[in-house]
Amino acid sequence: HSSEARRTDLMTITRHVLNEQSKYPESRGDFTILLNHIVLGCKFVCNSVSKSGLAKLLGLAGETNVQGEQQKKLDVLSNEVFVKALVSSGRTCILVSEEDEEATFVEPSKRGKYIVVFDPLDGSSNIDCGVSIGTIFGIYSVKDMDNPTLNDVLQPGKDMIAAGYCMYGSSCTLVLSTGNGVNGFTLDPSLGEFILTHVDIKIPKRGKIYSINEGNAKNWDMPTTRYVQNCKFPEDGSSPKSLRYIGSMVADVHRTMLYGGIFMYPADKKSQNGKLRVLYEVFPMSFLMEQAGGQAFTGKKRALEIVPEAIHERSPVFLGSYDDVEDIKAMYAAAA
Ligand code: AHG
Ligand code: MN
Ligand code: MN
Ligand code: MN
Repeated sequence: HSSEARRTDLMTITRHVLNEQSKYPESRGDFTILLNHIVLGCKFVCNSVSKSGLAKLLGLAGETNVQGEQQKKLDVLSNEVFVKALVSSGRTCILVSEEDEEATFVEPSKRGKYIVVFDPLDGSSNIDCGVSIGTIFGIYSVKDMDNPTLNDVLQPGKDMIAAGYCMYGSSCTLVLSTGNGVNGFTLDPSLGEFILTHVDIKIPKRGKIYSINEGNAKNWDMPTTRYVQNCKFPEDGSSPKSLRYIGSMVADVHRTMLYGGIFMYPADKKSQNGKLRVLYEVFPMSFLMEQAGGQAFTGKKRALEIVPEAIHERSPVFLGSYDDVEDIKAMYAAAA
């Protein structure tokens, strides 16, 4: 239809999700209400991040989290905003946050059927220098809403019903999948709405970029070392890949999603399970990559097959373009 019609045909994230949910006759809008509260949290953090220098939100909060990291003020603030928004939605029963040692069990009067695992502020080390940061979340359904248990959370990522991230960069972009492909929405500050801007994102089958913290090279295992070496000195005489590493998973994954390539946080001698947390970093990003036609691998198995035993468990992860991940799977298979 005409560009005029398109201009007034605002496809907001709410409308887009309502359209998707209308495929499920039994859905009563609970998921849409939950998502709206996640979106509210993202809008708040986006606003805080853009004003952080002015609102004295830079620097340390003076606490250390369960990860052993010094919490930044914005880590704590964004965590509080998301917990409050999710509880007040009345659609959640368990919350797991990077910044809370224990899972939050929502009081019965406010309980709903969804479990949300989230990293309220990803890339905290980049806050003070203004480099892109983000929020990552994954959503499970609870088995028995009247009796939510931790076991409901310790489920493989393939059982998630939705996953997404919001990147606070030059613009505020929310990328979401509810299991039917991946779509991207950009915040229009004049409307305060996330508008559909990236329809049905598909990651290129192969990319020209590899993304890894080369500073850990001394501690890598053989397959990772061989793979990275091949990125720089291709054995087949093809041109070397470019290295891009931002240090915020959300930004590195978003670039990988749009441009193709591979993002890696491998195990190393110091940390056998790598650094990234399974529930609220590895699973949501792996879910999105598979929905976009890519894949995610732990060095041993498909990332979404991990069955976590603890809510802050970590795993190595290699994710991105399908063919690039195939290459590193071959390196690990050859070393097995
Ligand atoms: P967070 O800020 O939520 O703790 O996550 C930081 C993670 C992730 O964003 C990024 O990919 C990784 O840390 C970078 O780690 P290195 O600085 O060790 O490369
Ligand atoms: Mn952290
Ligand atoms: Mn993180
Ligand atoms: Mn974080």
